[in-house]
Amino acid sequence: MTPIEFVDLKTQQRKILPELERRMKAVLNHGKYIMGPEIQELEEKLAAYVGVKHCIAVSSGTDALLIALMALGIGVGDEVVTTPFTFISTGETIALIGAKPVFVDIDSRTYNLDSSLLEAAITPRTRAILPVSLYGQCPEFDVINAVAANHNIPVVEDACQSFGATYRGRKSCALSAIGCTSFFPSKPLGCYGDGGACFTDNDDLAVKIRRIRVHGQDRRYHHPVLGINGRMDTIQAAVLLAKLEVFADEVEARYSIGLRYGKLLGDRVVTPYIEPHNTSVYAQYTVRVNHRGAVQKKLREERIPSAIHYPVPLHLQPVFSGLNLPEGSFPIAESAAKQVLSLPMHPYLAEDELIRISSVLEENIIEGLEDLGA
Ligand SMILES: Cc1ncc(COP(=O)(O)O)c(C=O)c1O
Repeated sequence: MTPIEFVDLKTQQRKILPELERRMKAVLNHGKYIMGPEIQELEEKLAAYVGVKHCIAVSSGTDALLIALMALGIGVGDEVVTTPFTFISTGETIALIGAKPVFVDIDSRTYNLDSSLLEAAITPRTRAILPVSLYGQCPEFDVINAVAANHNIPVVEDACQSFGATYRGRKSCALSAIGCTSFFPSKPLGCYGDGGACFTDNDDLAVKIRRIRVHGQDRRYHHPVLGINGRMDTIQAAVLLAKLEVFADEVEARYSIGLRYGKLLGDRVVTPYIEPHNTSVYAQYTVRVNHRGAVQKKLREERIPSAIHYPVPLHLQPVFSGLNLPEGSFPIAESAAKQVLSLPMHPYLAEDELIRISSVLEENIIEGLEDLGA
């Protein structure tokens, strides 16, 4: 039995190898490994793709979030409202700048921040809202932006899983003051190392983000503000430029595979719910099962990898114990954390592989269905 890849980067590489080699060789030839010409070319292409004025390429999705929060002047004593059901970076970057993450529970169908709970979480100290577009789907940005506008605070989108997705016809990363994404290798658009980007339409914020990316420098060795070493390597920009050529096709393929998975699994497990006004890039194809450990074991036996995004919500992470948010604080996030299971997902997943994966689920899952109301 051949193993199925969770994310198949090799097939993609075979497809784009000549362009990848051409792009990477160009970097080796000119030798401008830091802030070489590929960085600007990539920024222009990504900004056009997303439909915003400015793209600033940075060293990772985490640094994109950190730089965005720094550019907004958020710091000690401030609060940022976000979701507890996300990767650690979302809460980590808020805490790193001395601010406090304030969590609101999630919507049980999309796993995104429940925008109806936002208003109650805002205090005089709230300085931003940081929603996450989890698994490749955006949350209710119209509601989130309206609450933010009401309190005159900005919204930063953690779009680390949603580059290429749309919300009411607009691209993820173009929906708020600053959109932040990640180009971690397994992301829908990934490089061959760490990478990320900030997107904004605001000229002033773009200047601040560019400065913070290079140690707060406005000209060589002159530092009016604190910054970090947050640049993207030129070689990673070259990789992304090669991958960008097939990205639109890959987004389409992800979408079709998501639909196909839904048809195959339909009434057997709780499959991802995509709002009718959204398109998802399925950074993860995440279902919900009751006997997760047993299902994962069966999948493993059939050489099918799976993963859990995420087993522990942020408020229950030891690092955030100081927030005093015990078990029970965010019941929807907590129950999702116990049941979610991500299946292989990438644009080159073949029909026979999809059938193999769904039949393992079909054979092993019936038992737990009733409790889930599926
Ligand atoms: C929701 C979310 N936020 C932030 C990040 C951080 O991105 P990076 O790994 O590029 O720092 C990730 C990446 O896994 C993520 O999924």
